[in-house]
Amino acid sequence: MTRFPTGRFNNARRAAVLAVLAGACGGSEPGVARGELIFDACSPCHGDDGAGKRELGAPAIAGGSGWYLTAQLLKFQSGARGYHHADAEGLRMRPMSRALFADKGDIESVVEYVVSLPIPDPPATAQGGNAQAGEAEYVQLCANCHGRDGRGVDLGVPELNAPSLLHLNDWYVESSLRKYRDGVRGVGDAAGATMRAPASGLTDERIRDVTAYVMTMQRLPRKIAAPPPPPLPPVDADPAILPEGVTVAMAQEGQEIFNGTRGICFTCHVREGRGGALAPSLADDEWLNIDGGYESIVSIVMTGVPEPVEYPGTMQPRAGMPLTDDEVRAVAAYVFTLSR
Ligand code: HEC
Ligand code: HEC
Ligand code: HEC
Repeated sequence: MTRFPTGRFNNARRAAVLAVLAGACGGSEPGVARGELIFDACSPCHGDDGAGKRELGAPAIAGGSGWYLTAQLLKFQSGARGYHHADAEGLRMRPMSRALFADKGDIESVVEYVVSLPIPDPPATAQGGNAQAGEAEYVQLCANCHGRDGRGVDLGVPELNAPSLLHLNDWYVESSLRKYRDGVRGVGDAAGATMRAPASGLTDERIRDVTAYVMTMQRLPRKIAAPPPPPLPPVDADPAILPEGVTVAMAQEGQEIFNGTRGICFTCHVREGRGGALAPSLADDEWLNIDGGYESIVSIVMTGVPEPVEYPGTMQPRAGMPLTDDEVRAVAAYVFTLSR
C-alpha cells in the first residue's frame, strides 16, 4: 500500500488514497484486522502511531474513545463537521470519511484499530499561554463536562458526552476552540452546540491560557479519577408552597434529573443550581428571562434560551436531552423549590 511523504497534500494523492480505500480493503470481514488495513489510508495524515501531524493539521486520534471517534467520522460524512469554507482542516478530512462504507463495517473496523493504539503524549508546541490563568478558566468553564482531570465525562447520551482532552495536541485544542467560537465547527449538531456555549466569547488569549493548562493536565497521572461528588440532601420543600399539581416527589425526581446525567442541567447551572460561568444561579430570586413562576420555568426548559440575556452560549430546548414532558415538569418542580 502506498505511503507518501508528509508535506503538501495534493488532490492526486488524495485520489490515490480514496482508490486504495475503495478497492484494496474489499473482501475482509469487519474487525480490527480490516481496520489496520484501512488505517494505512489515515496514517499519512494522522501518523503511523495515530499521534497526529501538525504540518497537515491532523490531530492525534489514538487515545480518543471509540464513541467519540465514531461520532466525529459520522459528522464528517454527513457534513455536520468540515462544512465551513474557512475550515481548511475539516475540509481535508471530510473526503476521507466519505470513503468509509457503513455497510462494510469500515467505521467500526478502523475505530477498533485506532482504539487499540497506545495513548500518545503529544509534546507541548504552543508558546505564550499562562497555565495558571488557564487552570482557573478550566475549573470554571470546562471541568463540569470534560472532568476535573480532562478525561471526559460520560453523560449517558452519546451525542452529548464530552470527550477526553488528554491525548490532544495543543495546536489542535487551540484551533478547535477558535473554530467552535467562530461557528466554523459545531453548528447544527447537538454536541457541537453544547461545546459552542463555553467557547463563545473566549478571546485568543484565554484560549491560549486554557490550552496551556490542558497540556499540564496531560502530564498528570491519567488514571486517578476525581472523587465522586457528595450525595445530595433529600429535597426539603413545604408542600404548602408548591403550585397545584406539583408534589415533593416530583421535585425529588427533578433533583436527580437536574444534577445527573439525564438532564445535564448541572453542567451549566452547577450542582443544586448554584450558578457558574455558563449559566445563572437558579437558587436565588433573580430571574433574567422569566418571572420564576412554576409554569414559566416549565416553558423555558421546553423552549431553551436561544438568545441569553447575560450568559455566554445558549440553552437548547430540554437542554438537548430526550426529556419527556413529565420529566420537564419534574425538573421544573425542583428548580421551583431551589429559590424558595
Ligand atoms: C488528508 C489528510 C487526512 C487523512 C488521510 C485522514 N484525516 Fe482524519 N483528519 C484530518 C484533519 C486535518 C483533521 C482535523 C480537522 C479539524 O481540525 O477539525 C482530521 C480529524 C479527524 C478526526 C477527528 C478527531 C477529533 O479529535 O475530533 C478523526 C476521528 C479522524 N480524522 C479520523 C480519520 C480516519 C479514521 C482516517 C482514515 C480513514 C483519517 N482520519 C484520514 C486529516 C486527515
Ligand atoms: C457543557 C459541556 C461542555 C463544556 C462546559 C465544555 N465542553 Fe468541550 N466539548 C463538549 C462536547 C459535547 C464536545 C464534543 C463536540 C463535538 O462533537 O464537536 C466537546 C469538544 C471539545 C473539544 C474538541 C475535542 C476534539 O477531539 O476535537 C475540545 C478541544 C474541548 N471540547 C475543550 C473544551 C474546553 C477547553 C472547555 C472550557 C473552555 C470546554 N471544552 C467546555 C462539551 C463541553
Ligand atoms: C449548555 C448550558 C445549559 C444547560 C445544559 C442548561 N441551561 Fe438553563 N440556561 C442556560 C443559559 C445560558 C440560560 C440563560 C441565561 C441568560 O439569559 O443570560 C439558561 C436559563 C435557564 C433558566 C431561566 C433562568 C433565568 O434567570 O431566566 C432556567 C429555569 C433554566 N435555565 C433551567 C435549566 C434546566 C432545568 C436545565 C436542565 C434540563 C438547564 N437549564 C440546562 C444554560 C444552560
